[in-house]
Amino acid sequence: MAFISDALLRVKPSATIAMTQKARDLRGAGRDVISLSVGEPDFDTPDNIKKAAIAAIERGETKYTPVAGIPPLREAIAAKFKRENGLDYKPAQTIVGTGGKHILFNAFLATLNPGDEVIIPAPYWVSYPDMVAIAGGKPIFVETKMAHGFKLQAEDLARAITPKTKWLLLNSPSNPSGAAYSRDDLKTLTDVLLAHPHVFVLTDDIYEHLIYGGFVFVTPAEVEPRLIDRTLTMNGVSKSYAMTGWRIGYAAGPAELIKAMEILQGQQTSGACSIAQWAAVEALNGPQDFIPERRKIFEDRRNLVVSMLNQAKYLKCPSPEGAFYVYPSCAEAIGRKAPSGRVIATDEDFVSELLEAEGVAVVHGSAFGLGPNFRISYATATSVLEAACVRIQRFCSALV
Ligand SMILES: Cc1ncc(COP(=O)(O)O)c(C=O)c1O
Repeated sequence: MAFISDALLRVKPSATIAMTQKARDLRGAGRDVISLSVGEPDFDTPDNIKKAAIAAIERGETKYTPVAGIPPLREAIAAKFKRENGLDYKPAQTIVGTGGKHILFNAFLATLNPGDEVIIPAPYWVSYPDMVAIAGGKPIFVETKMAHGFKLQAEDLARAITPKTKWLLLNSPSNPSGAAYSRDDLKTLTDVLLAHPHVFVLTDDIYEHLIYGGFVFVTPAEVEPRLIDRTLTMNGVSKSYAMTGWRIGYAAGPAELIKAMEILQGQQTSGACSIAQWAAVEALNGPQDFIPERRKIFEDRRNLVVSMLNQAKYLKCPSPEGAFYVYPSCAEAIGRKAPSGRVIATDEDFVSELLEAEGVAVVHGSAFGLGPNFRISYATATSVLEAACVRIQRFCSALV
């Protein structure tokens, strides 16, 4: 009798965590390795936020909190949705979780019955399919094209919807492609959804503030208010406020769904960390001026990386609207011989040969459901990015 559950046997370990670990191990063994595989800002949490956490500890905010979040944070979340997204959510329609990942997980656990389908545009964040599978649902992948900026097209969405579809999962700006949907892009999708009243939208807006070149962020319930009763708008402080370790994510949606997620959370993690919640209150209500400053740094890095990758032989790299990732195609490198003498047959081969030859760690596109591509995270110092891109160029020039 197998001791590990069938549900867990459906789960793959995260490819991004695996690559980060591989880079760490090689570095530990004395290799000079540059890792571009991590998914977190290299900036520190702003001081005002840290101070709010210290003050919370000193005030004794160290006890259990209400399951769905402390009232000041739920108010701050409702105010944020109003201020930044024009969405009218009452605090009671919000929920705070231990990271955005937790919120997504609980949304699936609270709604999916065996065989229920979740439409996931590819490339997708590595955790989505596994979360759906653990909850007993069925991920339905819809491939996007580089020519469409890796964005889901209305006709492909319409084709993927069945009577069993429960959710469409959207992530804009996207991990791993950096693609972000404009108002017009989203409108074509929300128009499809209006004709299918049984389909809900789960929108992962965690990279909302990381958008470049004058791009305007929009979220589905803002674009199509008639969908508000079947949209779960998820967000968090991890990426925008450089707070990945604090573990605070949140969402707003229909009261019935939020209540179900609260019941689930009450038997699971209970309220998120009290101190981190007070820090998140300060993040959402406090000064926001560091966001455009950091955005500018990310934008410069994006431009540098895109330009250097497009100068590498056999690579094509679109310039995405947001997040801190680029997703170049290595299709023209497939079939060529690496310095090791091995032939590159897949994007996974490409990234492992790159790591071996030049000590640059990136993540293969097939881990995100669409290749042959690879993901580079540019949440790293500019000088390091420059050095990494030089190595990638050298690797590509050495392919025969
Ligand atoms: C697309 C996407 N959604 C959600 C998350 C989860 O964020 P959190 O740290 O809040 O759990 C991540 C983190 O990598 C992400 O890339």
